[in-house]
Amino acid sequence: ASSARFDAAVSGVYSEVSELADMDWDNLGFGFMPTDYMYVMKCSRGGNFSKGELQRFGNIEMNPSAGVLNYGQGLFEGLKAYKKEDGKILLFRPEENAQRMRMGAERMCMPSPTVEQFVEAVKVTVLANERWVPPPGKGSLYIRPLLMGTGAVLGLAPSPEYTFLIYVSPVGNYFKEGLAPINLVIEAEVHRAAPGGTGGVKTIGNYAAVLKAQSAAKAKGYSDVLYLDCVHKKYLEEVSSCNVFTVKGNVISTPSIKGTILPGITRKSIIDVARSQGFQVEERPVSVDELLDADEVFCTGTAVVVSPVGSITYLGKRVSYQNNGIGVVSQQLYSALTRLQMGLTEDVMNWTME
Ligand code: COI
Repeated sequence: ASSARFDAAVSGVYSEVSELADMDWDNLGFGFMPTDYMYVMKCSRGGNFSKGELQRFGNIEMNPSAGVLNYGQGLFEGLKAYKKEDGKILLFRPEENAQRMRMGAERMCMPSPTVEQFVEAVKVTVLANERWVPPPGKGSLYIRPLLMGTGAVLGLAPSPEYTFLIYVSPVGNYFKEGLAPINLVIEAEVHRAAPGGTGGVKTIGNYAAVLKAQSAAKAKGYSDVLYLDCVHKKYLEEVSSCNVFTVKGNVISTPSIKGTILPGITRKSIIDVARSQGFQVEERPVSVDELLDADEVFCTGTAVVVSPVGSITYLGKRVSYQNNGIGVVSQQLYSALTRLQMGLTEDVMNWTME
């Protein structure tokens, strides 16, 4: 996206606000922080998204009868921008997010932006908020695209109008543990998704549905919850906000994508990185028994990146991993992925976009 296009889109003065001076770049967590601009594009049911625009970041107005508020017709995405030492900004595989949003929109009966529109909107939004991209090594700018039914409905039906919106926020580590291993608890009764449902798309309701179990787990001191399949109740699905992997010798395993598990972009990338490093990677049903017997366990996600797991508690029994979970394999994969995302190694995969 050229700056000329950016200037035209904003057609206003880029005013400095004082908060930037107050930023503590060394202590970023994963919390919302307002930035300068958001991107908004609308379309009617049966129509196509055409022209979006940057707006000053702020609250949005919505009819109380909007489809997203009443019937959960909404999707979100998450991706990150990293600043390099030379000041250039890198996005990581934004077309993958665009395609995943299109897939989710189809499931949720919504129109969606084209891949080109999505990627262009991400670029325009990041450039408009460039000063909020953390300095190299301090974190990233988290980009949150939303797609929601914003037209009024009362009877259950697809919304007559849709809004695609992108906002951004500077972030650091997702878990309060930072880069230290997290402690998970397996949820035996509550399930995140069922076959035929919406677990495989990034719809907003999937995340509301895990809040109760997650809050209960956090109150007991766990970092998060690992969910099992709802049919056999013994195969791993995913953690509230990320995918899960086990390591046994040279074999890395992760639950296969079969409609109930979110097809994570970090998941997919780690599979390729691990294979390129000589690991055997298997996508298949992974049982709780295998998990408890693994050498290492780690989680992947845009927000969590690659997070090592220190312990798993299942039916009241806690299993701790070697070296408190600081696994050699997860560290190696974390380093390979993040160096690539930050532009510190040659991008042989062609995954980054300037
Ligand atoms: C992400 O990893 O980007 C997600 O969308 C998960 C979210 C719950 C933070």
